[in-house]
Amino acid sequence: LISDSYSEPQGEGGETRQVAEGKTAVLTTQQGVLVADDQNSLKQGTRGPMLMEDFHFREKIFHFDHERIPERVVHARGYGAHGFFELTEGLADITRADIFQRVGERTPAFVRFSTVAGSKGSFDLARDVRGFAVKLYTKEGNWDIVGNNIPVFFIQDAIKFPDLIHSAKPEPDRMFPQAQTAHDNFWDFISLTPESMHMVMWIMSDRAIPRSFRTMEGFGVHTFRLVDSAGNSTFVKFHWKPKQGLQSVVWNEAVKINGADPDFHRRDLWDAINGGDFPEWELGLQLFDQEFADSFDFDVLDATKIIPEEILPVRVVGRLVLDRVVDNFFAETEQVAFCTQNVVPGIDFTNDPLLQGRNFSYLDTQLKRLGSPNFTHLPINAPKCPFAHFQQDGHMAITNPHGRVNYEPNSWGAETGGPREDPKRGFTSFGAEAEGAKLRIRSESFADHYSQARQFYVSQTPIEQKHMADALTFELSKVERRDIRARMVSHLLNIDDGLAAKVADGLALSDMPAPAQSARPTVPDLPP
Ligand code: HEM
Repeated sequence: LISDSYSEPQGEGGETRQVAEGKTAVLTTQQGVLVADDQNSLKQGTRGPMLMEDFHFREKIFHFDHERIPERVVHARGYGAHGFFELTEGLADITRADIFQRVGERTPAFVRFSTVAGSKGSFDLARDVRGFAVKLYTKEGNWDIVGNNIPVFFIQDAIKFPDLIHSAKPEPDRMFPQAQTAHDNFWDFISLTPESMHMVMWIMSDRAIPRSFRTMEGFGVHTFRLVDSAGNSTFVKFHWKPKQGLQSVVWNEAVKINGADPDFHRRDLWDAINGGDFPEWELGLQLFDQEFADSFDFDVLDATKIIPEEILPVRVVGRLVLDRVVDNFFAETEQVAFCTQNVVPGIDFTNDPLLQGRNFSYLDTQLKRLGSPNFTHLPINAPKCPFAHFQQDGHMAITNPHGRVNYEPNSWGAETGGPREDPKRGFTSFGAEAEGAKLRIRSESFADHYSQARQFYVSQTPIEQKHMADALTFELSKVERRDIRARMVSHLLNIDDGLAAKVADGLALSDMPAPAQSARPTVPDLPP
């Protein structure tokens, strides 16, 4: 397809015609047919009509018409880069996960940072949670840590996720505000959802307006399990600690940057990596057992809670380095499909009801978004280790089974019978015990919504506390309904009197409301 000369003659209509010569590639159709003229459609005579038989025109326009796919229902705006994970401390005594066995070994990684609420074209410095999704292409399969830059979440149970997101996204009649949470619907939902108060403190803090993707922490949020080769489980919380330090902008800067350079964060990451200034994070683990979990008043299955690092220090076991930008944004960043369910032998779930709901949601939405159950065939999603299975067909099937056999068990020999299961090395679920009646109820151990919100607020410096009070005042001042403003202040009274007073003052509330009555779910008497 390389021509041996190149020139730029003018077409008959004066159009520029860049003709392949020398080492220039020759333009072809998708079928590989060389194209002679890409400036003019095929017409009857010089002035038309256009002809249906113009396969080049039809193919080009057909493909263009179908360029868009649905944006992610959340985390639509994101930016990805390649890199590697390197193990610095072996964990063979705690997990059989292959990635944690050999110190110094590198595992390829792809990371996508994102905002949650805005659409694909929204601005980078919205006050929002940032996604921090990591795909690790391990030798025993792909493992995704689909995390955020905040260690807790708004809700305890995945059944509330559609409500949370509907309330945060633009209001359905007016379609604004775009990409920001300062509006009635969001604060209405939040003020009616006391479990969100801890997360609200974090998103009103400077964490929600990071200086750069490179200066954010990342968290797996949920409690997961590490499982060793004897089947013993250790609870784990995952942390990414930026070597660049933790940095944020202030609100005035965020507002100006959004106007002057809505691509501020993606440009920063692109420039840093291309300039050889590779961002790096430490992978830290908080490891604990059931007895330790039982020592808390709160539940380690509750994603609105952290385990304070003062009580359980983070143990650094590896580093993540991003050293290569994508070749193509759509093929990689847009088509990458992270899923909490992508775990490998040695990593397992807990019964966190948010995590369990997420395990359903990602695969389901990705079928819609990427259009085929074969999205694992895309290079960005395919494992980099050997894989073999009997799943076949469907739209765009590329890695269909070879040969005659597409089922098992089968009577064909080892050579031709295809892959077989491996009870020793294959994934086995941790045998967690479960009992109890089927109930739609939350455990009492999920009921304290304010203690950790207060702990977070008092852990901030005075200037950071001022930023939080200012952020709450700004956000709530955009809320038209005064009862919603007052309801939020009634929650703040359960967190910190001083904070509540500042916000009430900023909003010019006529009366201070009574503190909110936390909605404590009670477990009904069970039948014997
Ligand atoms: C997307 C994190 C809760 C459903 C994402 C992404 C991240 C993320 C980082 C972007 C992935 C990417 O870059 O492609 C989290 C965290 C959560 C949480 C840390 C709570 C701890 C939930 C829940 C649900 C959910 C409860 C649903 C029940 C989704 C969906 C997407 C998504 C549908 C879009 C996925 C796609 O289109 O590829 N989430 N999420 N998330 N999340 Fe979550």
